[in-house]
Amino acid sequence: MSKAPIAIVGAGIAGLSAAHALHAAGQSVQLFDKSRGLGGRMASKRTESGHLDLGTQYFTARDRRFTETVRQWQTQGWVAEWSPHLYQSRGGQLSPSADEQLRWVGVPRMSSIAAGLLGELPVTLGCRITEVFRGEEYWKLVDADGNSHGPFSQVIVAIPAPQASTLLAAAPKLAAVAASVAMEPTWSVALGFAKPLETNLEACFVQDDALDWLARHHSRPGRDDPLDIWVLHASSAWSRQHLDSSRDWVIERLHGAFAELIDCVVTAPEFTLAHRWLYARPSQSHEWGALADAHLGLYACGDWCLSGRVEGAWLSGQEAARRLLEQL
Ligand code: FAD
Ligand code: NAI
Repeated sequence: MSKAPIAIVGAGIAGLSAAHALHAAGQSVQLFDKSRGLGGRMASKRTESGHLDLGTQYFTARDRRFTETVRQWQTQGWVAEWSPHLYQSRGGQLSPSADEQLRWVGVPRMSSIAAGLLGELPVTLGCRITEVFRGEEYWKLVDADGNSHGPFSQVIVAIPAPQASTLLAAAPKLAAVAASVAMEPTWSVALGFAKPLETNLEACFVQDDALDWLARHHSRPGRDDPLDIWVLHASSAWSRQHLDSSRDWVIERLHGAFAELIDCVVTAPEFTLAHRWLYARPSQSHEWGALADAHLGLYACGDWCLSGRVEGAWLSGQEAARRLLEQL
């Protein structure tokens, strides 16, 4: 076992996947995250209308290792299948679009998976790491308040690529790869209605101008919302175009697009919320698995190393852990 623990920057699914694998192999880890909660883009936001899943809506499992892991999560009660009344909208035409795809959600909220994976592992939340540097023997981290953390034997940077490149400065090749990855934004809006909307639609893939996706929040198992909440995601192109628009303007426009699309009367919402995900998804997939400078002991992982999906992020975390362990 290493003398000093392994630092993991980022407690999203990639960082937690790596932490879980390293812990299972007998290594000690210490996680850091800038947010107050776990899960990153799989987090659930606590609001006056309950916990809302504004980022990841569901996930699929296609890789054998991930499929087996998700089955274990199901046994542990962290996830459940979600089979919404699925629709699609193309050119303004709404139509049912049922399929056979198995889709998973965290229960009772998406962040339950992150909480389950963390277990008793140590994490420092509300701590934005701004520098990762190596002394003579060990690694140290510096946070945005100027506090120093360490020593650590190795460091895994598990954050979106544009943010990771700065923290990977000690390994210029890794930093350059991360800097080459473009990530697309997504505006996410929640609308809550006192009187449930009169539709049996529960989720919809949209190929129109502003919207990309919409879902009825309480159609997922385990949700207990006081209002009928709908989560709307704007397309990458629309989100990029309106990146700096005010939250109120974004809510108004997406509410309008939703009312036009859906097959029922949409009243004024009682509750509204908008969240801008600046680094929502990589603009293309890669096959890196994870990045490593094994000689230095610096690693990077995240969805951007594979596919911009939960499965890609989890697999990337596993790969970072595997590459680190094979050096010990
Ligand atoms: P993240 O989840 O981004 O985790 C990185 C963590 O690092 C965050 O917690 C962040 O707070 C932290 N961090 C960042 N910088 C620092 C720093 N300097 N110091 C400390 N901590 C830091 N995927 C699907 O499979 N299905 C979907 O339906 C789906 N829908 C999505 C909808 C939206 C709106 C978004 C935004 C994403 C969606 N995704 C979906 C993608 C999925 O959420 C991601 O692929 C996955 O969660 C990425 O995990 P990650 O660990 O790589 O990164
Ligand atoms: P999936 O297989 O359910 O969907 C993949 C894509 O196939 C969908 O985006 C949709 O275009 C199409 N599709 C699937 N089933 C359909 C149906 N019944 N009717 C019409 N179209 C259908 O899931 P997968 O592959 O795991 O993808 C994850 C999802 O997460 C995608 O929808 C993706 O767009 C979304 N995502 C959203 C992000 C964002 O920032 N908004 C970021 C990352 C992923």
